[in-house]
Amino acid sequence: MTHARVVGTGSYLPSGLLTNADLEKLVDTTDQWIVERTGIRERHVAAQGELTSDLAAHAARRALDAAGVVPASVDLIVVATTTPDRVFPGTACIVQAKLGIANACAAFDIQAVCSGFIYALATATNFIKARQARTALVIGAETLTRITDYGDRGNCILWGDGAGAVVLAASDAPGVISTHLHADGRYEALLYTDGGPSSGSPDAGPKVRMQGNAVFKMAVNTLDAIVDETLAANGLAKTDVDWLVPHQANIRIIQATAKKLGMGMERVVLTVDRHGNTSAASIPLALDTAVRDGRIRPGQTLLMEAFGGGFTWGSALVRY
Ligand code: UT7
Repeated sequence: MTHARVVGTGSYLPSGLLTNADLEKLVDTTDQWIVERTGIRERHVAAQGELTSDLAAHAARRALDAAGVVPASVDLIVVATTTPDRVFPGTACIVQAKLGIANACAAFDIQAVCSGFIYALATATNFIKARQARTALVIGAETLTRITDYGDRGNCILWGDGAGAVVLAASDAPGVISTHLHADGRYEALLYTDGGPSSGSPDAGPKVRMQGNAVFKMAVNTLDAIVDETLAANGLAKTDVDWLVPHQANIRIIQATAKKLGMGMERVVLTVDRHGNTSAASIPLALDTAVRDGRIRPGQTLLMEAFGGGFTWGSALVRY
């Protein structure tokens, strides 16, 4: 049987920073409130003219370098993003061109908001298992600050920009052990952008609208359930998981999932304090951080999980 293994990771954060002190000047908030309610201290912000595809291409190059894979060997590119450069072409096609990949491999975007990376990882894994690809670039990249309403203190304190990528390769040994994807479109009204190409956008462009507290409660309960689903599907005990690599939405959501797993926070990869919520980019950003600093080591078992707009949610159990 063919498996899909993570053979390289990379990430990229734009150099601009937006601190809680900066936000105190924009809306009626305080550093203390933001840290206590979200765990966030600062987020990165893309420079003017720096696009989602630029962030994605930087992260992808780093992942390819780490994997020792030349761009020409890539035969599938999947980009998870909610903030594409344009309506079309797909950001994955733009990234393909920026990486100089001229082999006509498949390249497409996935839109599952904060669960986008899990959806993209599942998709690429299934391409590899079906032997329709051997080397895939899976990227989560966002310029969320471009769709943030800096007049809405209820959610503008969360969002940041960044990108993370993994190279997945066909292998005889297990890598991505299982993925679990779900959605429930009935919750659109709790988390959405006001407008888009089909419904018409306000002059300032679409902005994120969120009923934060309702989303928070759904996220905690849903992630609890997907932890059970993932462990049960693989006949694993909580103690079999070495690292939780969660979507970085809010430290309190992450703490609740860690508690569910009976894990101390020392086994959870946390980047939310420095990155904020980077939607589809947050899991690969966290993964790359912990791979590069040596915490995540080959052979360890990782549980990735995410919840976001749609609602969408999902998990991936990965032998690194
Ligand atoms: O990633 C995809 C999915 N998204 C999420 O998972 C995000 C989920 N939601 C959250 O992270 C949290 O709900 C927020 C951080 C957005 C909000 O935190 P909360 O603890 O749920 O606050 P709340 O909305 O229940 O508001 C509590 C109070 C309210 O004041 P009153 O009505 O009690 O007087 C808000 O007006 O906090 C107030 N508030 C703020 N105060 C200072 C809301 N935002 C702020 C703020 N600064 N930025």
